[in-house]
Amino acid sequence: MPDRQLTSLTIRRPDDWHLHLRDGAMLQAVLPETARHFARAIIMPNLVPPVVTSAQAVTYRARIMDALPQGADFTPLMTLYLTETTDPEDVRAAHAAGIATAVKLYPAGATTNSASGVTDFEKVRGVLEVMAEIGMPLCVHGEVTDHDIDIFDREAMFIDRVLKPLRKKVPDLKIVMEHVTTQDAVDYVRDSNKNLAATITTHHLIINRNHILAGGIKPHFYCLPVAKREAHRVALVQAAISGDKRFFLGTDSAPHTDPAKLQACGCAGIFTAPTTMSCLAEVFDAAGRMRKIESFASLNGPEFYKLPANTSTITLTKGEPVQYPSHIQTADGPVTVFDPGFDLHWRVEE
Ligand code: DOR
Ligand code: ZN
Repeated sequence: MPDRQLTSLTIRRPDDWHLHLRDGAMLQAVLPETARHFARAIIMPNLVPPVVTSAQAVTYRARIMDALPQGADFTPLMTLYLTETTDPEDVRAAHAAGIATAVKLYPAGATTNSASGVTDFEKVRGVLEVMAEIGMPLCVHGEVTDHDIDIFDREAMFIDRVLKPLRKKVPDLKIVMEHVTTQDAVDYVRDSNKNLAATITTHHLIINRNHILAGGIKPHFYCLPVAKREAHRVALVQAAISGDKRFFLGTDSAPHTDPAKLQACGCAGIFTAPTTMSCLAEVFDAAGRMRKIESFASLNGPEFYKLPANTSTITLTKGEPVQYPSHIQTADGPVTVFDPGFDLHWRVEE
């Protein structure tokens, strides 16, 4: 049957290769939204203070496990926040013990809670060399932070100024360019022959910069990297629906309370966890490539991380528009759920 005629599709259970769960009351509220549909997720370490050491990753993982709803089958894959003082041997031990799956590189000041990130890449070379040796991926927030670089050019500039030199110096390092937003990044990943992959978020497949800025500013569409012009969004969709193994889902679902988003200096981050699979299905279905959703959400990520694909499945079915709450309530305040601007016809059968 052609993809366009499908009204039901069973796929391996998906994983989220880039997720912010936060801590405390927020963790409690948002974790069930991911655990409902996803088997595993790469957990971002940008807490305050950040998750830098293996000891911190162990205690954070325990807090996540404690917050899981009864009966949920969900495995958090922990990351360590790379700083200029990270101990290569701590990273090696964390990987060997199964405590950390990847290391996260934030250029200092690039985004929410990234003040302890890297300024001088020579200072982290020792860690990167150990990671290359043991096959541990580096997840990269790929934006330069130079104030003279336009915010819409920061990702493209990162490729030339940081990523290319870094990959030359440590060619065996496996790198995930996270939440790519540009044709430039898609082309760069596609042109590489090994050790490079990219995650794509749900929201960057749906919104462009007009959605944020035209007809009144929409703080709930503001995230980093910021969405680019329409041609870039189209390039992301093409990469996602292609089935190319180097592209996979990392939602970057990043909850902030409404007061934190709706202020003079609002936080970056879009909360997509509750409806991500429905949103993705809409995108893949519209492109006539519904069956490729499994490669993107369930198969390509595990293959890059050298983990088995999940054996359990989920079933997506198409019907009347899905009803979902506009907000979730947390003890810290309400968090707005991403509104894609169109009806969602695909639901995940529970
Ligand atoms: O929009 C974003 N929000 N981008 C990031 O890189 C960080 C994230 C967050 O932690 O809120
Ligand atoms: Zn993120």
